[in-house]
Amino acid sequence: RMLKRQIACRSDINRMNGAFLATFQSLIPPEEERTKQKQLLALLDGIVSKEWPDARLYVYGSCANSFGFSKSDIDICLAIEDANIDKSEVLLKLADMLQSGNLQNVQALTRARVPIVKLMDPETGISCDICVNNVLAVVNTKLLRDYAQIDVRLRQLAFIVKHWAKSRGVNETYQGTLSSYAYVLMCIHFLQQRRPAILPCLQGMEATYSVTVGNIECAYFDKVEKLYGFGSQNGESLARLVWAFFSYWAYCHDYANDVISIRSGSTVSKRGKDWTRRIGNDRHLICIEDPFEVSHDLGRVVDKFSIRVLREEFERAAEIMQYDPNPCVKLFEPY
Ligand code: CTP
Ligand code: MG
Repeated sequence: RMLKRQIACRSDINRMNGAFLATFQSLIPPEEERTKQKQLLALLDGIVSKEWPDARLYVYGSCANSFGFSKSDIDICLAIEDANIDKSEVLLKLADMLQSGNLQNVQALTRARVPIVKLMDPETGISCDICVNNVLAVVNTKLLRDYAQIDVRLRQLAFIVKHWAKSRGVNETYQGTLSSYAYVLMCIHFLQQRRPAILPCLQGMEATYSVTVGNIECAYFDKVEKLYGFGSQNGESLARLVWAFFSYWAYCHDYANDVISIRSGSTVSKRGKDWTRRIGNDRHLICIEDPFEVSHDLGRVVDKFSIRVLREEFERAAEIMQYDPNPCVKLFEPY
């Protein structure tokens, strides 16, 4: 088991902090976007409740997890209690009603991995995807939002990492690289294992919130207002954390043996999860355990080609953070 040794951080790293904070600021959505999203949600609620009076709409993904950039599409989940519904039927019906309700580009994608209806609202210009009964996504969205409340550096770091991944073309699951959701889990894991820790492990604490989705029990400590200041023993700046994040994924993570697991607040072994060999299309070349659906490896989209692309990008980023005079520019250069 060979791990490269941790390298010492450049001494002028904190001089870069202003530039990283400014980049973060420039990506935050302005308040009026929130107003428009609410307006569209109210419109959709009106349409949906005509056909399904007991159904509810939940926003999940980047518009609700606090990791969304400006001009993100909205992800919405239509929750219908009736267990006997046929999802495709519901989506086709929904698409019909949306079309009559003056929404544009309405498209039902019933054969997708997560079947959805797509639409665009001409009034607000917002595009959105609606899925049916994807309750786990709603719950993991809440978990991410709750983590973000504990220490601002999570949101700052995740914005920088997502911006880097989008700029460098490694945020494309259909090309074998990672989803935004996976990158946020990587950031949470990273801040949990910092010493002193910047984030706690909410699923390892007394549960104050608990829901059961199918046969999965989702429980964790969600009274995060009690955890403000949790990471204050650790004074690391954003720039230093960005440096350490890339250095971790470039030189320190044990790809052969470890699974990152925010559920356990640490890493767990690939062997323990039986993720050491390829089964079907799952190669487990970089292992990121879903916090609730623990048999789900978010890294399963990664193949033997894209793992090289990813690791080379981590190394490129780590080198820029270590040596480049202007890392905040070079890091985000289009590929
Ligand atoms: N999700 C999930 N499992 C995955 C991928 C996504 O449960 N394998 C859910 C998560 O709830 C996530 C949401 O789908 O928050 C949206 O995923 P994604 O598009 O990756 O993240 P966003 O936060 O919407 O990022 P972006 O700004 O890139 O749209
Ligand atoms: Mg999204």
